Amino acid sequence: MVNEREGTDVDSGCIYMFAGKGGVGKTTCAATTALHHAQTGEETIAISTDATPSLAHIFETGDRQKPVKVQKQLYINEIGLDEVQQMWDNKFGKEVYEVFSTFVSIDYDSFLEFMTSMLPGLSDEFMVDYIREMKKGGRYQTIVWDTAPLGQTLALLHTPAMLVEHLRMAPRVYSRLKFGSKSQDSILNILRRWQKLSADSIDFLRQEVRFNIVTIAEALAFEQLEGIFKELDEHGFDVKQLIVNNVIKEYDSEFLMMKASQQRKYLSKIYERYSHLNIIEIPMCPYEIKGIERLKRIEQNLFY
Ligand SMILES: Nc1ncnc2c1ncn2[C@@H]1O[C@H](COP(=O)(O)OP(=O)(O)O)[C@@H](O)[C@H]1O
Ligand SMILES: [Mg+2]
Repeated sequence: MVNEREGTDVDSGCIYMFAGKGGVGKTTCAATTALHHAQTGEETIAISTDATPSLAHIFETGDRQKPVKVQKQLYINEIGLDEVQQMWDNKFGKEVYEVFSTFVSIDYDSFLEFMTSMLPGLSDEFMVDYIREMKKGGRYQTIVWDTAPLGQTLALLHTPAMLVEHLRMAPRVYSRLKFGSKSQDSILNILRRWQKLSADSIDFLRQEVRFNIVTIAEALAFEQLEGIFKELDEHGFDVKQLIVNNVIKEYDSEFLMMKASQQRKYLSKIYERYSHLNIIEIPMCPYEIKGIERLKRIEQNLFY
């Protein structure tokens, strides 16, 4: 697929991905972004892959429908492990099971559970595939992707290399296993298809997804940024925006003053190290960010 955003400044028809360490405000920023786009008249969906999703909580909807309509033009969908298994099942499950069950006695459900728990990055990979299909479907103009804490998110980037390595070894190993050459061929075919799916997913991320990294002005978060950017760079991903959340802007106590001065130290490191990025600060609010009105408060910082 062609890179639709290259050389343009259109802010619609995009996929926005929010990544970063746990608890820094990814979901808050993702929800705010979704709300913003929906309010500018775009059909918008926010999708979460976090195992402990909180989009429904932020938007205060108890609805169990999928996707849930939050308000006009704004939908959310929290994707659980079950659905990821289902996606894997649809693409590969039956075939792989057919081959494996010729030499391992395992019932289908256990097999599926085993595969999806064992493979690193599998759920993210199918998530990317899911988003890709969603984009193709054309139902939504804006897709916002709220990810799980980073280490996990990027596991999928290693899948193609892992499969290349596996494919290099596989024929030798499989030829020693006692199953027919037909099964052997189909395993190799599945692996090749899978490898292609992984590579396509990464291309899609590279070409169509806008990465937003969320962080806070603290030592550990700052140090982790280095690794995150290194990995994104290696795969040619383009990060445009770095969001520094929970910045203390006003202080009326010695306690907050100390905190603010500590934050300033890391803020200046962030500005120095990432001067090529668009850096946005979001102030720490004295309340949790929940409900449309409070999200609008964050929107002021994120968009204006
Ligand atoms: N700028 C902010 N001011 C105050 N509370 C915030 C702010 N940003 C996030 N929070 C709160 O911090 C908690 C974690 O935010 P969340 O967006 O769920 O983080 P993540 O998705 O990265 O784990 C939530 O309770 C949220 O309401
Ligand atoms: Mg979250």
